[in-house]
Amino acid sequence: MRFASKTGKAETTAATCLVLPRHRASAVAEALGVAEAVELALAATPAREGALVTIPLPGKVKRMVAVGSDVVKVKAERFRRDMATVAKALATMDVTDATVCVDDFEVPDHDTDWKVRTALAAVTDACYRFNEYKSKPPKAAKLRRVSALVARADRAAAARAVQHAQALDSGLAFARDLGNHPPNICDPTFVAEAASGLAGEGVSVEVKDEDEMRELGMGAFLSVSQGSETPAKMVIVRYDGAEADAAPFVLVGKGITFDTGGINLKSAAGMGQMKLDMCGAACVLGVARAAIDAALPINLIAIAAAAENMPSGRATRPSDIVTTMSGQTVEIMNTDAEGRLVLCDALTYAERFKPAAVVDVATLTGAQITALGTVAAAMYANNDDLAQALEQAATYAHDRMWRMPLWSDYAEDLRTPFADVKNVGGRAGSITAACFLARFAKAYPWAHLDVAGPAMRGGAAWGSTGRPVSALFQYLIDQAV
Ligand code: BES
Ligand code: ZN
Ligand code: ZN
Repeated sequence: MRFASKTGKAETTAATCLVLPRHRASAVAEALGVAEAVELALAATPAREGALVTIPLPGKVKRMVAVGSDVVKVKAERFRRDMATVAKALATMDVTDATVCVDDFEVPDHDTDWKVRTALAAVTDACYRFNEYKSKPPKAAKLRRVSALVARADRAAAARAVQHAQALDSGLAFARDLGNHPPNICDPTFVAEAASGLAGEGVSVEVKDEDEMRELGMGAFLSVSQGSETPAKMVIVRYDGAEADAAPFVLVGKGITFDTGGINLKSAAGMGQMKLDMCGAACVLGVARAAIDAALPINLIAIAAAAENMPSGRATRPSDIVTTMSGQTVEIMNTDAEGRLVLCDALTYAERFKPAAVVDVATLTGAQITALGTVAAAMYANNDDLAQALEQAATYAHDRMWRMPLWSDYAEDLRTPFADVKNVGGRAGSITAACFLARFAKAYPWAHLDVAGPAMRGGAAWGSTGRPVSALFQYLIDQAV
């Protein structure tokens, strides 16, 4: 999808399809000399919240899409929903170009940047398809280009918003595609190759194999892949967008390309969903894609911790003890709690970059879904400023997260008589998982996003959502100013 910005007014802009709030439809129709067609169409559809009227027109403007009730000022949530409705309609219409008259939508306390970004994000969401494995792929949407129309004074803000929306569009597609590939194709080597595609000017990609990880002492990471025929990879994407001495932001993603549970084998029902257990890694690579495309003036390192979790004669046994890169020993009481095992070593590895902040992203626990469902990611942080910045970015991008506690009371559940820590705790599964990770993230401001629910879509149209690429990209944008 191509996004663009234009300046001018709805009445006079050159467009084949105009998207307007309903209260503006009559006046614009009048100016275009198509009042009759528009009045007839409006009369046929009562004005109510969320209503959409698509009006074919004679003349240069071939179509008008009027959305909403007749209310002039709308709340942010209403605008976002209306844009989702519009985008879904545009994706199925016989139009190649559409122009959203952004200024005509009045959303109190929300600026041009937010309105443009919200409108275009809806298009990104509505137009995503993944048909790589269909022998006869269905036809793609006709829509090719969506423009945001703003007043001349907002030209610079709109251009920047469009650039960011365009970068997010490709970052989200990157993350979702990687997630949606089947696990017989998307193994750790495939993840590494996909990441290598990001390399270019100012971007380097390094892939560590199992021997190199062994040399680094990553006993926890390697314990996950040891039952699998396919070797683990740790992928490090480095983007230098700022001065060399600017501390980098580091993103770490859980990349379990398939999670059978290992010897603690998962039940058969729904196991196929576990191809999406690498969505954390896909997310951080997607954020890197977006940051690179947007040429954000920051230094960024994205680390994908990729491994497959399989049962076999060589697999880790429940009660095995391994030594992590940090030197701490871990008793693996449940081989299905493998995400934290790859992440803890990647978090220790991140120390060498002297990061400004580290954020890890993981489809870590079913307990996160029990607590927050698919609506919000569970966010944990050892630093209040970082937590607030993430919350703010998540709200702006409507890619929600909710902060959860890291109280030491929960960490007590991880005690064992045999090692420094065990990999499973008591009942609050998402919290104890975060407490486990916190032991390895003491050297820098750190946040952990448990996205088991938000990253995956269930049901008939199941697959990767790409979340939380939007929130993390926004966080990086905010840090860049
Ligand atoms: N990948 C799963 C978490 C998960 C479950 C993600 C369902 C998405 C949907 C993770 O590796 C796992 O199996 N976690 C266990 C931890 C338990 C053994 C402490 C869980 O949540 O049950
Ligand atoms: Zn698991
Ligand atoms: Zn897992």
